[in-house]
Amino acid sequence: MPVYGTRPEAIKMAPIVAALESDPRLDCTVVVTGQHRAMLDQVNEVFGITPAHDLDIFAHGQGLEAVTSRTLERLTPVLRDERPDVVVVQGDTTSAFAAGLAAFYLKIPVVHVEAGLRTATIWSPFPEEGNRRLLSHITSLHLAPTAGSRDNLLREGVDPTTVVVTGNSVIDALLSTAKVERPVVDPILAAADLDGRRVVLVTSHRRESWGEPMRSTARALARLATTEPEVVFVLPLHANPLVREIFVPALSELPNVLLTEPLGYTDFAQLTARSTLVVTDSGGVQEEAPSLGKPVLVLREDTERPEAITAGTATLIGTDEERVVNEVGKLLHDASHYAAMANAVNPYGDGRAAERSVAAIAAMLGVGERLADFAG
Ligand code: UD1
Ligand code: UDP
Repeated sequence: MPVYGTRPEAIKMAPIVAALESDPRLDCTVVVTGQHRAMLDQVNEVFGITPAHDLDIFAHGQGLEAVTSRTLERLTPVLRDERPDVVVVQGDTTSAFAAGLAAFYLKIPVVHVEAGLRTATIWSPFPEEGNRRLLSHITSLHLAPTAGSRDNLLREGVDPTTVVVTGNSVIDALLSTAKVERPVVDPILAAADLDGRRVVLVTSHRRESWGEPMRSTARALARLATTEPEVVFVLPLHANPLVREIFVPALSELPNVLLTEPLGYTDFAQLTARSTLVVTDSGGVQEEAPSLGKPVLVLREDTERPEAITAGTATLIGTDEERVVNEVGKLLHDASHYAAMANAVNPYGDGRAAERSVAAIAAMLGVGERLADFAG
């Protein structure tokens, strides 16, 4: 039983759901919490997933405690009725943590997809770092995306026989989506004339960025858009009103800034492929852009995804206005700096994460064998 609630979980779970559904040894019952609504439904539609149960917990502006308690309360009866052999959760959201906890309380083994990511402090990213560390303690099978994430788990004393390195399923999702040429759906993007122009793709939504850090990013983008009139800055806005309150007033009057609704995954993947560089605080986008050879400037103070930084295609820049202006300017104007960062690397996966994940689940349930680990 895969259980998920937000956009990135849906994207990363989709290849695993497809692999579970096509596996004759296993039955798959998909449950969504509905932590996100439009942004979640959009992904399920793209990947053709119809959940068997929708806990429908969405409410505007609800706190972490509400997401947690409503997930626990509404998932528990579903688990009691369905009695799944395992519950599969993904990543570090509050939906993932609460679903894992609900399963644990009923002594149902938890499979954790994207296990073992770590920063140095539980306060950043908040609450994600706490969520994933807590999940590790109640997980029976850890599907680590990289050797680095496996090593983090082993350092914490996790039983090595319960850890499998799979690659990140976001790369499975990206590669399968990039294969299909589809017309652009978003009306603003479809109407835009990007011919011959460089595109800077920007996303920002994290809790640590709310308020002044996000305002600082917005000021930097306004300056850049003014001094670089030939460059198009595209910001697919998160549905969160706190994000819109900052970016819309700061940027909506600038002719070379496109502010769009959250993009469907096919639009977003094509836009990433079309862009010159990516500026983001997103976890998933940090993993996808390097595999398309796009330099990534990370709007955060620390990251649980060091692999692209080590490979030289991503740089942690934080949200200081001057720094953002300088780093974007350098990539736009210094060709050798750009060339040094624009290398297609795949430290996060090879497109076979779902296959390895399902094989590991089948092995755990005694109906199959694991595959060799993702070697990176
Ligand atoms: C959540 C996750 C975060 C993940 C992010 C991906 C937690 C604590 N946070 O953060 O780890 O990176 O999702 O996007 O689990 N909203 C809508 N419609 C939607 C989705 C959101 O209107 O489809 C608005 C609502 O007003 C909601 C707000 O966005 O209250 C914030 O959503 P929430 O799920 O609380 O947190 P995110 O910031 O999206
Ligand atoms: N994404 C999308 N449309 C958008 C912005 C992002 O489909 O308008 C995808 C992106 O390709 C990535 C995922 O959403 O796979 C990242 O989600 P988000 O940034 O919301 O969460 P995070 O990864 O930071 O948890």
